[in-house]
Order: sequence, then C-alpha cells, then structure tokens
Amino acid sequence: MKPTVSDTSHGPHEPEFDVELYQPLFGRHDQPVALRHTEDRADLIRTKLGSGLSDQHVVDLGCNLGYITLHLAQFARSAIGIDRDARNIRACRQIASEAGLKATFASEQVTPGIVGKLNKMNTGPKVFLMLNIVHHLVVAESLAFAQDTIREALQDNSLLILELARREEVVPQSWGWDRLPQHELQVLPPDILDCARIRILGWTSTHIPPYTRPMYMVQLSAPPLD
Ligand SMILES: C[S@@+](CC[C@H](N)C(=O)[O-])C[C@H]1O[C@@H](n2cnc3c(N)ncnc32)[C@H](O)[C@@H]1O
Repeated sequence: MKPTVSDTSHGPHEPEFDVELYQPLFGRHDQPVALRHTEDRADLIRTKLGSGLSDQHVVDLGCNLGYITLHLAQFARSAIGIDRDARNIRACRQIASEAGLKATFASEQVTPGIVGKLNKMNTGPKVFLMLNIVHHLVVAESLAFAQDTIREALQDNSLLILELARREEVVPQSWGWDRLPQHELQVLPPDILDCARIRILGWTSTHIPPYTRPMYMVQLSAPPLD
C-alpha cells in the first residue's frame, strides 16, 4: 500500500494531510517513509546549481509536497511550486509556514501557457524543475503537449532540470507508458534536442526497483552552471 499521511500522530493542533507521500515532508522527522528518497535529489540539484542559485528564481513544476522547492528556497532568490493537486498545495503551504521559509505555492495544471507566463513573471535568471512529471504530461495529454511545455520552460535562456521516467521501466500497462518515446530525451522538441546544451547530472533511485532515472540539465545557449 502506498504511504499516506492522514495525520493524527502530530497532536490536536497539527494540520491533517490527506496526501500520498511521494516525497517526505520537509523538516518533519516523525513521519512514515516516503515513496521516493528526495533529500539526495534536492541536494544534487543544489550542488549542481552552485553559488549561482542565490541569483535564480526556482520554478518547480509538479512540486508534489514541496520538499525540493523548500530545500532550494533556502538558497535561491525565490521559489515557486505548482501542482494540480490542491491537497498537495495545502500541505506545501503549511510545511513552508512551519519551516519559516518563503516560497509560493499554487494549485494549477502545468500547461505550455502557464509555463510561458511563469517564465515571464520575474526578471532575472530562472531554473525550471520538471522532475518526474513529463511522463504525466505525455500520457494525460500528448508528446507534443509535453514538448510545447518544455519549449516554454526553456525560453529566455532559462535552465531546465529534467528527471525522466524511461519507457523501459516495467509498470502496469494501464499507466500508458507505451506512449513514452523510445529514448527519454526525445521528450525534448527535435530542434531543441539537436541544438541545446544537455548535461547529465546523475542517476536517482526510484520507487520502482530496480530502475534508476536520469536527471538532466538543459539550456538553449549559455553553458549550464558548474
Ligand atoms: C511523480 S510526482 C513527482 C513529484 C516531484 N516533482 C518529484 O520528483 O519528487 C508527479 C507530481 O506532479 C503532479 N502532476 C501531475 N500532472 C500534473 C499536471 N498536469 N499539472 C500539475 N501537476 C501535475 C502530481 O500531482 C504529482 O504531485
């Protein structure tokens, strides 16, 4: 059974989260084990972005419970998390407030239009995170929809960090992963795949053993940060 938190263990004054624990709750240590190790992923991203992170606006698309958004919010110029699940967003806001961290969370569908708006919202360099969400876009919408979304995230020289599920992972047929491209990087629009700077940041463990997933950094022009 997937771990959830329907919280009575934190006492009468604590909020009740009815969410799937894909990620751990940031700053909470008294909780069931989450589906994904996330501390290591958050730290990998922070390390790879290096000191440049202090100048960057972080936009976490499909932020789930905000663990990575909040981890990066400690170091970034600003941090925004978007998720379609309003229960996740309620939990994110509560956890941010408990942790005393400044981050904005919104319950929205990730679409090319929303991502385009987010990319124009703040002046200054941006880093978009699309971690384990692109396959949702492909299956629920289409490959073209996911590619349009990625194209919007890469406008204005923004950095994009992708963590990608792979078609070769053996999952129930009902998940629709036969709609994923043969190679995970083919979720990038073909013209971008040809010319973008793409660097692999590492491989992460998943909730679907024995599979690991690649994390990539993509940018259209200037070299990715060290
Ligand atoms: C597999 S989880 C990945 C969470 C997080 N990015 C991570 O890697 O830990 C996918 C998340 O994306 C959200 N999601 C899926 N499709 C979405 C969409 N079209 N718009 C917004 N959020 C979406 C889900 O609610 C879920 O929280």
